[in-house]
Amino acid sequence: MIGSANGAHVSITGLGVHVPERVVTNEELAQLVDTSDEWITTRTGIRERRFSADDEALSDLCVPAIERALAEAGVDPGEIDLVIVATVTPDMLFPSTGAILSDRFGMDKAAAYDLSAGCTGFMYALSQAYGMVASGLSKRALVVGADVLSKLMNFADRSTCVLFGDGAGAVVLERVDEGGFLAFELGADGSGGVDLNLPAGGSRIPTTAESVARGDHYVHMNGRQVFKFATRVLVSSARQVLDQAGLTVDDVDVYVPHQANVRIIDHAVAKLGIPVERVVVNVDRYGNTSSASIPLALADAIAEGRVHRGDTVLMTGMGAGLTWGSAVMNWTEDR
Ligand code: ACO
Repeated sequence: MIGSANGAHVSITGLGVHVPERVVTNEELAQLVDTSDEWITTRTGIRERRFSADDEALSDLCVPAIERALAEAGVDPGEIDLVIVATVTPDMLFPSTGAILSDRFGMDKAAAYDLSAGCTGFMYALSQAYGMVASGLSKRALVVGADVLSKLMNFADRSTCVLFGDGAGAVVLERVDEGGFLAFELGADGSGGVDLNLPAGGSRIPTTAESVARGDHYVHMNGRQVFKFATRVLVSSARQVLDQAGLTVDDVDVYVPHQANVRIIDHAVAKLGIPVERVVVNVDRYGNTSSASIPLALADAIAEGRVHRGDTVLMTGMGAGLTWGSAVMNWTEDR
C-alpha cells in the first residue's frame, strides 16, 4: 500500500516515551547464556537494554509515555477520540491494551484498539491514525508503540534473548495548518511469518502444559532470514515512500530506521546514500524495543536538538508478519 497525503495536513503535535528502570547489560546476559559482550556488540551493536519489572505490564510502561505526549501537545485526555496501541505484547489477549489505557486516562469519547504488525506496528498505527484524522473521523488521535518482549523471551536461547528490550512511545496526531505527513508505504509478506513468531497462546496452538514444555510460548526467530528481509525492505520501502512524496534521499534531514541491529541500519544507510550524521541510532542503549523503537529513537534525536521545524523526517520499520512500513513527514513542532 502506498499513498501521498492529499488535502488535510496532519502532524505529530506531542511525543512522549518511557523505558523501565532496570538496565540489563551484555555481561549480565552472558551469565545466563553462552554469549559475550564482544559477540553481542560486534554482531548487533547492542550494549544494554531495559527490562520491565515482574509486576510491570505493557500498559504500565505506556502511562508515563502518554502523559508526556498529551502534555507536550497541550491536549486533555478527554479530547482524544482515537487510541491505537501497536504492540505484540498486550497486557492480555483481550480486552485490548488500548481499551485498558483509555479507561485509565478517562478517554471516554475514544475508540480504542490494539494493532498487531510486529516491530512495524508503530508505522501501521501512524498511517491509520493519519487517515482517520485527515478524513475528519477523528479530531485528536493517540498512537502508542510499545512492547515488553522481555516477558516472552526464552532465556535459554542465546540467538533471541540478547536482542530485545522493553519500552513505550506515544504521539498525538492532530490537524495542523501546514506540513505534517507527506506519504506512507506499507507492506506485508505473510510467507515469511514462520521466520519470526510466537507459536502458542492463540487458537492454532492454545496454551497447554505440552506447549509450554516445548517452549512454544516464547519468541522463535530465524535470524539469518529476518536479517536478509530487513536489509532489503529498509531500502526498498524508503525509496518508494520518498518517490511517492516527490523527494530524494538528499531531502532527508533526519532518518529514523527501526532499531533492530546496527549492521542492518549501516547496510540501509550505505545503500540509500544517507549521510551518517542524519541517521538516528540508539540500539546500543535499548536493543530492539519492537513497536517502541521508532518513537524512542525520534525522542532521542529531538532531545539532542537534531530535529527542527520544517525538517524532512523519514521513518522505516520492519518486523514480524513479515511486515514493513515507511512514513515521510515535514516536522511541524519547535522544541
Ligand atoms: N552469542 C554467541 N553466539 C551466538 C549468539 C549469541 N548471543 N547467537 C547466535 N550465536 C552463534 C550461532 O549459534 C552461530 O554459531 P554456529 O556458527 O556455531 O552455528 C553463530 O553465532 C552465527 O550465527 P548467525 O545466526 O549466523 O549470526 P548472525 O551474524 O546472522 O547474527 C543475528 C545473528 C544478530 C540474530 C542476526 O541474524 C540478526 O540481527 N538478524 C535479524 C534479527 C532481527 O532484527 N530481528 C527482529 C526483527 S523485528 C521484529 O519484528 C521483532
